Amino acid sequence: MRTHYCGELRANHVGETVTLSGWVDRRRDHGGVIFLDLRDRSGVVQIVSDPERTPDSYPLADRLRSEYVVQISGRVTHRPEESLNPKLPTGEVEIYADRIELLNGVNKQMPFQVAAAEAESVREDLRLKYRYLDLRRDRMTRNLQLRHAVVKGIRRYLEDEQNFIEIETPILTRSTPEGARDYLVPSRVNPSEWYALPQSPQIFKQLLMVSGFDRYYQIARCFRDEDLRADRQPEFTQLDMEMSFMSQEDILQLNEGLVCHIFKTIKGIDLPRPFPRMTYGEAMARYGSDKPDTRFGLELADVSDVVKDSGFKVFSGAIAKGGIVKILPIPGGDKLISNVRIKPGGDLFKEASEAGAKGLAYIRVREEGQLDTIGAIKDNLSPAQKEEIVKRSGAQPGHLLLFAADAADVVNKTLDRLRLAIGKELGLIEESKINLLWVTDFPMFEWNAEEKRLEALHHPFTAPHPEDIEDLKTARACAYDLVYNGIEIGGGSLRIYQREIQERVFDAIGLSTEEAYSKFGFLLEAFEYGTPPHGGIAYGLDRMVMLLAGEDSIRDVIAFPKTQQARCLLTDAPAGVDKKQLKELQVASTYKPKS
Ligand code: AMO
Repeated sequence: MRTHYCGELRANHVGETVTLSGWVDRRRDHGGVIFLDLRDRSGVVQIVSDPERTPDSYPLADRLRSEYVVQISGRVTHRPEESLNPKLPTGEVEIYADRIELLNGVNKQMPFQVAAAEAESVREDLRLKYRYLDLRRDRMTRNLQLRHAVVKGIRRYLEDEQNFIEIETPILTRSTPEGARDYLVPSRVNPSEWYALPQSPQIFKQLLMVSGFDRYYQIARCFRDEDLRADRQPEFTQLDMEMSFMSQEDILQLNEGLVCHIFKTIKGIDLPRPFPRMTYGEAMARYGSDKPDTRFGLELADVSDVVKDSGFKVFSGAIAKGGIVKILPIPGGDKLISNVRIKPGGDLFKEASEAGAKGLAYIRVREEGQLDTIGAIKDNLSPAQKEEIVKRSGAQPGHLLLFAADAADVVNKTLDRLRLAIGKELGLIEESKINLLWVTDFPMFEWNAEEKRLEALHHPFTAPHPEDIEDLKTARACAYDLVYNGIEIGGGSLRIYQREIQERVFDAIGLSTEEAYSKFGFLLEAFEYGTPPHGGIAYGLDRMVMLLAGEDSIRDVIAFPKTQQARCLLTDAPAGVDKKQLKELQVASTYKPKS
């Protein structure tokens, strides 16, 4: 049905007779000469038909409409000088259609035009409902092809250069320890029992290490019932890896090789190695985030010790309650950011309160270098305190200093959000920069205030730092994340492989040995039979492709994604099921629709 793809044709094909199959992207009638853009997955090429040169094809060409499926044969010719199109890869050539065959027409009104320019402004819900049409569009076709190329690059590197093998792990399984809600599937043959869909292949990949497959990978589908955002889907894909007999350093090095290979094959870019590294502690101190966007400065300064005894109650009170006071210094901010924006009702105030802050204190540094404080701050900071604030924050004339005073997590979250918003607003982020950063030495645990207990920050199989083994509660973990321009694209850790340490970790998170065994007994038992030291990592493949494609949402790099409400608009899932099906499953709904 075809000798070439449309998008392949170039000047060196001139003179050849070709057969192409595809869709009519656009049809234009220029005074009796019909121009068709013929499209397939590789791109478009211009087809010409007129009554004189191509009398056989002209009557049909005249009747064709956008999205008709056709087969066309004809000779590749040079376009005349005046109609060369340097923007199109095939823009030097056109094909005079000796023969056109209509393979199928369009029987319904198109919900939107597929051709590039018209489709850009189509509403996303319409695009998702008619996703098969949306995927015909150039941008989406390119995104899915890029995704394929990324996966291919990953496979080539891991299999051919690093001796990894891909092994599939179950989808119907038990709950896996990634901390989100599970998607559950009832078992008909085991009434009242449920499978959980995997949040990740974590447990199985560790079991594969016990089995001796010392370099495993999988392009793995994961399921997490959590609140959705632009970079989160309820089902998403990980590049999942696990390795035995490798140190953390070996693992990071191998992964740098992988990421460099992807950038080289996809973008032709040689990334500088080694990738920069920062500990979790440093990232939180300097940026208030464990995934800092290091493409720009605006670093935070901690002044808790300076203001702890000040008369300004907002500061001293927060510190007395165990909190901290930090500053976001904004060069030029004095002129650029008005008081209205920082006070209640202002956009920056809103940003801060969404992060949990009760308000923002601020100081303006006037051109002469004097601190211009207002209200209570004015009267309650001593000259020495002011001087130290200037020193710590690097304040220069023209700076605006924004203060957050609260519990450490609120302060960091607030200033992180403001830093990103203001960095963007002031144009400090160089969009073309690629900053990859390893964040290391995460804490083992974080405090769950609701349940009043420690919980594993990563997952409970993460190994503690060997230097911190004595006091696990405050220990650092052998855990690492890879951050790309402020987005976490991957994370992993070395695992615990010694029973005694594993039991101590369960103890620290308040999991009794019985509970631990009822949840993960099969894994703990497996560890008794000779387990190698091992560790691994998983990348969010969708996120990685989104960033490589320059898209803002992972929905644009997933063929059939779900909405923010976890719905598939194309198939209308989730949907009700027959009473009979529920009965067979011995499942009844307790849902009462609101009247
Ligand atoms: P983690 O939970 O950090 O680690 O997940 C690894 C990576 O998966 C991506 N990711 C997501 N992408 C899209 N939608 C989601 N809902 C979503 N959730 C996570 C992120 C993240 O960095 N088993 C461990 C890995 C390990 O220890 O080896 C794990 O799953 O990019």
